[in-house]
Amino acid sequence: MRRRVKSGASPTFRKDMANNTQGFSSTFGAIMAAAGSAIGLGNIWRFPYICGKYGGGAALVLYLLFVFVIGMTLLLSELVIGRRSGHAAVMAYATLKPKRPQWRYIGLFGVVTCFLILAIYYVISGWTLNYFWESVNGTLSHITSGTFDAHFSSFASSAAMPLVCLLVFAAINLIIILCGVQNGIEKVSKLLMPLLLALVVLLCVRSLTLPGASQGLYYLFHPDFSLLTAEGVLAILGQALFSLSVGMGVMVAYGSYLPKGDNLFRSAMWITACDTAIAILAGVAIFPAVFATGQDPAGGPGLVFIVLPSVFNSLGTVGSILFGGAFFLLLAVAALTSSISLLEGITMGFGEMLGTGRKRTSLVMSVGLVLLGIVIAFSYEGGLFSSFRPGGMTLFDWFDKLSGSYLPPMCALLTIVFFGWFMPKDDIHDELSNHGKERTSWFGVFYYVLVRFVAPLALLVVLIGGIF
Ligand code: PHE
Repeated sequence: MRRRVKSGASPTFRKDMANNTQGFSSTFGAIMAAAGSAIGLGNIWRFPYICGKYGGGAALVLYLLFVFVIGMTLLLSELVIGRRSGHAAVMAYATLKPKRPQWRYIGLFGVVTCFLILAIYYVISGWTLNYFWESVNGTLSHITSGTFDAHFSSFASSAAMPLVCLLVFAAINLIIILCGVQNGIEKVSKLLMPLLLALVVLLCVRSLTLPGASQGLYYLFHPDFSLLTAEGVLAILGQALFSLSVGMGVMVAYGSYLPKGDNLFRSAMWITACDTAIAILAGVAIFPAVFATGQDPAGGPGLVFIVLPSVFNSLGTVGSILFGGAFFLLLAVAALTSSISLLEGITMGFGEMLGTGRKRTSLVMSVGLVLLGIVIAFSYEGGLFSSFRPGGMTLFDWFDKLSGSYLPPMCALLTIVFFGWFMPKDDIHDELSNHGKERTSWFGVFYYVLVRFVAPLALLVVLIGGIF
């Protein structure tokens, strides 16, 4: 028998929070939404340059190992916590451990982390909107090659356009969240995710047919273990967590919307497989083009905004408009399905905790996010606030570091310790087996090996390594 878990917030309140829907309407919709959360700037902007920098194929092998062993363990844990409790991050912990309300601070930590990530995510997503616009109106195709660096710097350090793009992106997110789970997130994800796949495949085909493309594939897939440093291992594990959207409670919120009979293991496999496939395809789309046009593959974070426009530029005006437009649209779509998941996690996390409705919470949060986003955007190198450098770094770099490297593994560690050592094992098994209906021969290895030891130890090592 399924043990009913006492809910922290009343069912009517929960209904209002989810905007009169029970959650996702179908397994497909749920997988698309969760895959949409996972597939984001991390896959298209960050994964290729991390792989390129830390050993190509060697980094890829390690990434796959981390994603399927540690990332998926966390993903499954969050989905179980969410569906079992029926709540988003903060109240989920309070509900599962009603006698120990202090556990809710894990959830709160995750939601605050989501807030910080989303503020910087809005800024970078705004940049993708600007580049999409500049691709389709032909601005980028008129820039002389070699000056893309200067073009990017002057855009990112200016005041008007980054601000306008930030506001537009935040408004789109808010509208989708206000439409609710089924009519907003699920509908948008079901439409945009197949579009994203089509765009990335189109770009792969174009990239692979460029002369000299094979050099890019060699760079991405050739395993060179001598490039794999300790720093690289940490960066790759961090990337695996960030890419799967795990550790910060977003997947707890999505788990609470999953249909009850869903096989969680199968859903987690699909989400992980989609996320990984898009990351690899993005690498295949980017590196051959970079090599074919003689660009620097170690362009790092600037790769997509500096190197790629000049790649598209070399394809002529029409090529630049078409492929540049398609690429930045792809990036904006990927960013959108991830950012709505972050805003949903924040809205539900704070809303359930404070008892404020969905509309009010998402509005107030959006205002806060935009204000913080403005500070971050103006702190970019050369911007209005860039001379303010606590500890020698701009605020932009501080937020980038905190939200990308330090906070996610910390939240992930706390989550997995709660799940493995404080949540009753029978509850976990009951939820994963759908009350004994599914085969769970893998449960012993998952619980006693991965959840209790491998995942927490790996996270601890990453954190210690990262901090020191
Ligand atoms: N997974 C997203 C990406 O790859 C980012 C993200 C992190 C989204 C955490 C939600 C929660 O870009």
